[in-house]
Amino acid sequence: MSIHIAAKPGEIAEAVLLPGDPLRAQFIAEHFLENAVQYTAVRNILGYTGTYRGKPLSVQGTGMGIPSISIYAHELFRDYGVKRAIRVGTAGSIQEGVKIRDMVLAMSASTNSGVNLQRFGGKSYAPTASWNLLKTAYDAARSRGWEPAVGNVVCSDLFYTEDPGEWKIWARFGSLALEMESAELYTTAAKFGREALAILTISDSLITGEQTSPEERQTTFTRMMEVALETAVSP
Ligand code: HPA
Repeated sequence: MSIHIAAKPGEIAEAVLLPGDPLRAQFIAEHFLENAVQYTAVRNILGYTGTYRGKPLSVQGTGMGIPSISIYAHELFRDYGVKRAIRVGTAGSIQEGVKIRDMVLAMSASTNSGVNLQRFGGKSYAPTASWNLLKTAYDAARSRGWEPAVGNVVCSDLFYTEDPGEWKIWARFGSLALEMESAELYTTAAKFGREALAILTISDSLITGEQTSPEERQTTFTRMMEVALETAVSP
């Protein structure tokens, strides 16, 4: 058992889906996995292992933000030998061409967080997705007739920023959307030599202020899940 995950060795699959919301982890386990068994409920951050198309697959809540996902990703890679970790989450669009409901594959993740400046002694690391997972997810989406946006996202430490226009500098440099976890997931995967990808759906737009309705969130979530599941269990 690790400090924050109550699984025994061998109870977590090599491939793990990572929603922020622990109740999303439960929903995924109940609706998409076969024979799912809960292996942790420490701090109500739920984790399950089952199978998908006969292959072992786990789903683990991460909580919101860099410090929270950092803990879960670290323990999954270090203590449970996880080889591929796929975040399934939401993001806010900062580009006109990226509309609410769109799917975004985070090829790389910029951040305003200080964690990597601390880790790398003031030098700037470039958190990057696994090319293998990125290509597999892109192909899985395209084969279903969906066109995901692929590019840089911005991983923010603050949801409620002091400057409401802080995102504009990132938008000018081509970043697609704002979220709060990918940079740390990618960096932690790199530290342990593992694969990671963030598949995101746009839940709101910082440009127009629009938000998706609960029904739209369900539809877009199902689409994202199809891509994430196929990517997680691909050879
Ligand atoms: N900001 C940060 N994270 C988010 C947002 C946002 O607007 N939308 C979804 N996740």
